[in-house]
Amino acid sequence: MCKTVDIDWSNLGFSYIKTDLRYVSKWKDGNWDEGTLVEDHHLSISESSTALHYGQQCFEGLKAYRTKSGKIQLFRPNQNAKRINDSCKRVLMPEIPEDKFIDACIQVVKANEHYVPPYGTGATLYLRPFVIGVGDNIGVKPAPEYIFCVFCLPVGPYFKGGMAPVNFTVSQYDRAAPYGTGAAKVGGNYAGSLLSHELAVKKGFADCIYLDPLTHTKIEEVGAANFFGITKDNKFITPKSPSILPSITKYSLLHVAKEYLEMEVAERDVLIDQLDEFKEAGACGTAAVITPIGGIEYKGKLHVFHSKTEVGPVTKKLYDTLYGIQFGDVKAPKGWIVEVK
Ligand SMILES: Cc1ncc(COP(=O)(O)O)c(C=O)c1O
Repeated sequence: MCKTVDIDWSNLGFSYIKTDLRYVSKWKDGNWDEGTLVEDHHLSISESSTALHYGQQCFEGLKAYRTKSGKIQLFRPNQNAKRINDSCKRVLMPEIPEDKFIDACIQVVKANEHYVPPYGTGATLYLRPFVIGVGDNIGVKPAPEYIFCVFCLPVGPYFKGGMAPVNFTVSQYDRAAPYGTGAAKVGGNYAGSLLSHELAVKKGFADCIYLDPLTHTKIEEVGAANFFGITKDNKFITPKSPSILPSITKYSLLHVAKEYLEMEVAERDVLIDQLDEFKEAGACGTAAVITPIGGIEYKGKLHVFHSKTEVGPVTKKLYDTLYGIQFGDVKAPKGWIVEVK
């Protein structure tokens, strides 16, 4: 019989909830073991693990969605597999075969199926795969052993009372260096962003915008999300830079804009002093799909896009289409959906 859990799905936020089983696989002497599901949500690792001292680790974030017919599906997990391997390569950790990564995600969803929120609540099951360098070591060098783990937890929709624009301020700090680790999903980038985030929130903003670390003239990221703008002549524009984390949502929106909404799209520089070219703007990522940007504060002035309170029509269409694809209500491009059976 299918287990049930006592969760108020409509009041879920983004907080840790311990679910039943997680996947753990260990790497030693050049090989990953087969991996297994375990009940214990603690990891026992050497005090000298490189993950603890030198930040040799990386992670991913993706979701499982319940469709109207009750099926469960993952959205483009092969893209998360590719990105975790790009991150692993950047910090000299062993790669994970794509089928092993996807199989681990599927095993975790199936083992915690009763935590996948019902269709219509907007809630989802969030998956957090990660790789850490472990084992006895003290020098600054790659670890002798690694752990690949995937755990999951149910999370609520990002916007409880419906999608609403929020304001951002430009950070005085960088999140990445010009030839650094900005394009990798490694923990150090996030540790470095905690202070900027806190300062932005204290000033009354949702989060901060990071400019390019070399010239501080171009938009790179919006908190932990990518930026996009809709020009006055209806083009979907998103910044291109080697220090941006390549957002899977952003590339999916680029496709949706081009193929579903028949818009022109481009990845190119977005100058912080030329925000006037955009009639709408948003931040995109797995957590919210799209967070509409009401305004951006730069040098003491708030530049407002469409409106401080209303979501622009193009942003809304992009959101509805991608959200529909993720929950199975809109036909997905080939290969985007993996059903959990
Ligand atoms: C720094 C950063 N940028 C962008 C994104 C959005 O990426 P995705 O759309 O793959 O969730 C994330 C979230 O993973 C992030 O942490």
